[in-house]
Amino acid sequence: MTDLTHPLATVPQDELVARAEADPLRPRFHFVSPAGWLNDPNGVSHWNGTYHLFYQYNPEGAFHHRIQWGHATSTDLVTWTDQPVALEPSEGPDAEGCWSGVLVNDGGTPTLVYSGRFEGKELPCVAVGSPDLLSWTKDPGNPVIAAPPVGVDITAYRDHCVWREGSKWRQLVGSGIRGRGGTAFLYESTDLRAWNYVGPLFIGDASQGDPAGTDWTGTMWECVDLFRAGQGSLGSAPSDGSPDVLVFSAWNDGDTRHPLYWTGRYAGDTFEPAALHRLDYGGRFFYAPQSFQDESGRRVMFGWMQEGRSDATMVEAGWSGVMSLPRTVTAADDGSLRFAPVPEIEKLRRDHVRLPGQMLCGLLEPLETGLSGKQLDLELELQLAPGALLRLGVLGSKDGGTSGRPAEETVIELRRSADGAGDGTLRLDRTQSSLDPAVDVEEKSGPVPMPEGRVHLRVILDRSAVEIFANGVPLTARVYPTLGGEHVSLAAEGTAQILSLDAWTMAGIFDGNRSLFP
Ligand code: FRU
Repeated sequence: MTDLTHPLATVPQDELVARAEADPLRPRFHFVSPAGWLNDPNGVSHWNGTYHLFYQYNPEGAFHHRIQWGHATSTDLVTWTDQPVALEPSEGPDAEGCWSGVLVNDGGTPTLVYSGRFEGKELPCVAVGSPDLLSWTKDPGNPVIAAPPVGVDITAYRDHCVWREGSKWRQLVGSGIRGRGGTAFLYESTDLRAWNYVGPLFIGDASQGDPAGTDWTGTMWECVDLFRAGQGSLGSAPSDGSPDVLVFSAWNDGDTRHPLYWTGRYAGDTFEPAALHRLDYGGRFFYAPQSFQDESGRRVMFGWMQEGRSDATMVEAGWSGVMSLPRTVTAADDGSLRFAPVPEIEKLRRDHVRLPGQMLCGLLEPLETGLSGKQLDLELELQLAPGALLRLGVLGSKDGGTSGRPAEETVIELRRSADGAGDGTLRLDRTQSSLDPAVDVEEKSGPVPMPEGRVHLRVILDRSAVEIFANGVPLTARVYPTLGGEHVSLAAEGTAQILSLDAWTMAGIFDGNRSLFP
């Protein structure tokens, strides 16, 4: 029998939803689970006009245990309807959890390929769905792959990327080879049930780079996602320069590090890498991303916005984990990827303020914008002189003292390089974002292309969730202001011109009548 009462289940289940809803730091227009724990997006797909978002879910409380597949549907990628739990652990190969996986269309039959957890290890399992994708039947032959490849000393083995190529299915399972690095094992099948092992698609080198670095590839690759960014499908000859992309989340010994991607070419049974990139400068705050191609042909990606507060605080709050807004993925001319929230999100925009264009020249004191809100969508067009810095403060609270410095403020900085070359840096400074000394305030930053000093900056704030896009380069993070501040301020060093600044308050997407077990 499975033990259903975990020692961390200190909040009675019938109180979880009310607790979660009462938390002022809980996002209102990002998808969150009804309460309890949420991690990776799973089975993201568009099926007969309906978007499906499954997710790693523990309705028992805000901790990771005996994971189920929560499920929500949408017709617009903006508002979501909770659906019954799709997969729940049961006696057999997933008795300890239904871990991450994907949804594929098997000749009209919705089919999930996921990692069943049993005796502390994961193996590939399959379940088929009813035509409405609301009830799921596990395959009696689970696990469909009985063991990891023999003779390989692996660090872990789980998560799936499955696609159709010609008359066959292909599958990647994320893994790592001890002493070498992360990898994805390639398999082939005609029926999604009997799989032949082909070999490692590509093996990373964990001895390369600084293990503390933001682009270290780790000792295991979680949630591998292989796709063609642009024209053509995987395995076909590209008609243009569209790169193939291998996304993975670098993991090391239980530590969820950051999402990365290789661009390169997938051909035959291997992936020939061209370049490694950081996928989101927020690192673990946009973890385990999964993408799909929707019926209009766009590639859309979701990621898990982990928490930056303590385990005990999460448990008390009754909820943990935020799904990012869905973002489109496109290839830029330099072969790297650009991201943007799907335009549908603009439906949630309410009160609009447009500030007149203005020149900020070395302002010592921040400029009061008059803008405020905890749920905001900000869009700025900027022109930075060489060496100039623009500083956008959000979620700020005045301290009431004479210093004029906010008691709390989350600061987004853009700096153009001094030599006037077409590049610069995006930085998120959370050191003043919260008076709570226990929350994660590590600095996040990375380079951003800034041709001629121009930057399109998009900042989406949803209470504790922050998504920033600077010329399509994302930085996602969490912040935990304690004072409820809503101020938006601007300051500059050098000459920063604001060509336009638009701000909208954002409506919420849930009506407050959610159930842990829809
Ligand atoms: C990534 C991950 C996956 C695993 C799932 C378990 O965050 O660790 O590798 O399948 O979460 O919930």
